[in-house]
Amino acid sequence: MITCFEKLDNNNTDEIINKAARILKKGGLVAFPTETVYGLGANGLNAEACRKIYEAKGRPSDNPLILHIGDIKQLYDIVVDIPDNAKKLIDSFWPGPMTGIFNKSNIVPSSVCGGLNTVAVRFPSNETAKKLILASGVPLAAPSANTSGKPSPTKAEHVQHDMNGKIDMIIDGGECDFGIESTIVDFTEKIPVILRPGAITKEMLENVVGKIVFDKAVYSLLSGGEKPKAPGMKYKHYAPEADIVLVNGSAENVVKKINSLLSEDFKNGLKSGVMCRESNLKLYNSKFVLSFGNSADTAGKVLFDNLRKFDDISINKVYSETFDESNVGMAVMNRLKKAAGYKIINV
Ligand code: TXA
Ligand code: MG
Repeated sequence: MITCFEKLDNNNTDEIINKAARILKKGGLVAFPTETVYGLGANGLNAEACRKIYEAKGRPSDNPLILHIGDIKQLYDIVVDIPDNAKKLIDSFWPGPMTGIFNKSNIVPSSVCGGLNTVAVRFPSNETAKKLILASGVPLAAPSANTSGKPSPTKAEHVQHDMNGKIDMIIDGGECDFGIESTIVDFTEKIPVILRPGAITKEMLENVVGKIVFDKAVYSLLSGGEKPKAPGMKYKHYAPEADIVLVNGSAENVVKKINSLLSEDFKNGLKSGVMCRESNLKLYNSKFVLSFGNSADTAGKVLFDNLRKFDDISINKVYSETFDESNVGMAVMNRLKKAAGYKIINV
């Protein structure tokens, strides 16, 4: 299959959206930008079109997809009840990087939901995403547009790297604003449960509805028999080729520890890199140091791009600084821990 790559400019948006919508209506696959990461879209009410998503990504079939809507009216077609706390959070945060889990209606094929009775719904704020959903006339199923297990794509080039030849079209709308996937909130529980932290933080949600809890899988690796509520959280994720190790502690201790690990690796012939705050870039003795910017917000935006950059230069090991697990730091640390396979050195 030849994948058509279309870059948006000020004059061609409508033409490209119409072309993409025609492909989607025919059951094809189109990758498109959202404010979080690039999505791999298909007609979310067409089981056969969605099957192609699983094939292109190499995604396990029990891992359900998120349906993306472009108008709040579409929500009422695909879910059966909307609790009051969900309504309040929707008023505050949609369109935007929050996904809600609801009981699904009959028009949603169960294969799209990994066989569950619930469906994940998201109303993105990205203009291209909204226009594309409305032009297609149906909710679009869209997981992150990466090969299963790899870091999510935050630039169209990342999608091209993973999906070229496997999908019909890629719409290049530039770099994603947040760089980390949406916050997933399960509204089927009395007290809403965050299944995946994101840019809409627990603190922001609690400001609107009071108590919110994190699912256990957000904090830690579950033991053998335990099942996470978001099936996707049990799979290996965000894994670059290199071994990632998080080093956590006081700024001074972290720099000391990482530099001693770097010199040991160097002696052993390993190519090792570092991810750190902008202000610490010069403190590390490695040629391969990538910046997080200076806050958890900027770290979220560049994290997946950094992981892919280390792959491009075939790094063996990457040591990473950590962030405080509050606000967006919770989401950044969740992704970092998964990328590291929970390898953390406390100093
Ligand atoms: O920001 C995002 O959410 C991006 C963009 C493209 O919108 N999408 C995204 O989709 O991250 P994906 O498929 O990569 O991650 C969806 C996660 C998976 O962990 C999946 O298991 C979970 O959502 N999920 C989907 N439906 C669910 C359901 N009914 N119950 C529980 N978890 C669900
Ligand atoms: Mg994903």
